[in-house]
Amino acid sequence: MSIKPVVKMGNLQLATPSAPVTDEVIAALSKGSLDELIQDMLDTMQQENGVGIAAPQIGCNLRVIMFGFEKNERYADESAVPFTVLVNPTIKILSKDVDEAWEGCLSVPGLRGLVPRARLIEYSGVDLAGNLITRTVEGFHARVVQHEYDHLDGILYPQRIRDMRLFGFNDELPCT
Ligand code: NI
Repeated sequence: MSIKPVVKMGNLQLATPSAPVTDEVIAALSKGSLDELIQDMLDTMQQENGVGIAAPQIGCNLRVIMFGFEKNERYADESAVPFTVLVNPTIKILSKDVDEAWEGCLSVPGLRGLVPRARLIEYSGVDLAGNLITRTVEGFHARVVQHEYDHLDGILYPQRIRDMRLFGFNDELPCT
């Protein structure tokens, strides 16, 4: 259980689609179990004070994400999101409505951007206990899941920004 270095934008590992977690993959994990990967993701997310993290961000291209927080200073106005681990997540977009809001990423430190995301989604995935979780969520919860899911397809949030003037350093951008 350890804090891992976060892979930063520009590293092609972040642009590489991740592989589904299968029994064969679990059996072949060179360093310990899936539990160890998930613990390392948690330790790293907490150390970096993130609201979510995806396995490729700690150098493992497998389809595992986690997210959740009670209160986070980067997103002070947002309400809590339950802590969730999802293996092999899927997302269904349930509404054509799109919200724009500010996002940052542990792999893009010091910057943020205004990113369009579907307002209402249903997501599914397998949790730590092996149970299938399915939730319908909206707003910031939906945003966080879409952001983390994108990492598994090799997409970082700057690729989704519509107006690149609204991408920049935290202390330079006009809005919070
Ligand atoms: Ni991110």
